[in-house]
Amino acid sequence: MNIVIVGQGAIGLLWYHRLINNSSNRVSLLCSARIISQPTETFFTSIENQTTRQPLISANNAALATADIILFCLKSYHISSALAPIFKQVSAKAVIVFCHNGMGAIENLAKLSQPCYALLTTHGSKIISPLHAQHTGLGHNDLGLISGKPPLIQEQIIKTLATALPSLTLSNNIKAKQWLKLAINCVINPITALDDVNNGQLLNNNYAVLIDQVLKEIIAVAACEGIRFGYNELKLQVLAVARKTAKNCSSMRSDILQQRPTEIDYINGYIVSLAKKNGLCVPTNARLVQRVKNITL
Ligand code: PAF
Repeated sequence: MNIVIVGQGAIGLLWYHRLINNSSNRVSLLCSARIISQPTETFFTSIENQTTRQPLISANNAALATADIILFCLKSYHISSALAPIFKQVSAKAVIVFCHNGMGAIENLAKLSQPCYALLTTHGSKIISPLHAQHTGLGHNDLGLISGKPPLIQEQIIKTLATALPSLTLSNNIKAKQWLKLAINCVINPITALDDVNNGQLLNNNYAVLIDQVLKEIIAVAACEGIRFGYNELKLQVLAVARKTAKNCSSMRSDILQQRPTEIDYINGYIVSLAKKNGLCVPTNARLVQRVKNITL
């Protein structure tokens, strides 16, 4: 398959290296315009701690025009600005896949005529140095159609992605999975970022009341959007992720430590804006948004 990956972050490079290993794929990478001098190589450290290098095959207009899959692995706040300049070059037969944290980033984009999928991953990956990613944890991928009709090549897409980075499930209710991921991110990301702690610290009793308030607000907002969560089940799932990723630094904490913008507007901020739309009050989520903004301004 012809695959263009947009974004040279931890998840973009993880997919680049895993997909390029299969010689029947033609894979290229579209780096952000912020990269001034174009490097010629990328590096990848596998879960077994083996480091390999791959030439950086830059995606050009021809790659975009012939792509079967365009996989956006970007921060939520970069999606619209990354899509705008390539919008006209993207093949009408391409399938667009968005892999990012948070919600609300693609709802306001110009309507894409291509089928669009959301790809949720629990694989862990981190950037060790520019253009060098390390696969830090095995996980699972959920893929689900978010707009358009399933393309004829859907089976081939699933096989290609699942072979490159197992395991992968096609979900016919991706919205529920996006909401579960959102709830997990709403708890883990701002609290670990504000307190500068690893994810596992959230298992400490000190955080129980705060987690409880964040989740209860999310459950009320989710219900207005047709998503039903049970409190006990949701809390168990959030804490299970904190336990599984106990030694990890959350993406929001990394963003703050590296003085990058955070995805707070697409995580707790998304809850705050939906609450407003539905006439609900979510003071705990609103406070987390404000506190994260205060330390990033
Ligand atoms: O954003 C993150 O860091 C991750 O989605 C998660 C699941 C919170 C683990 O660190």
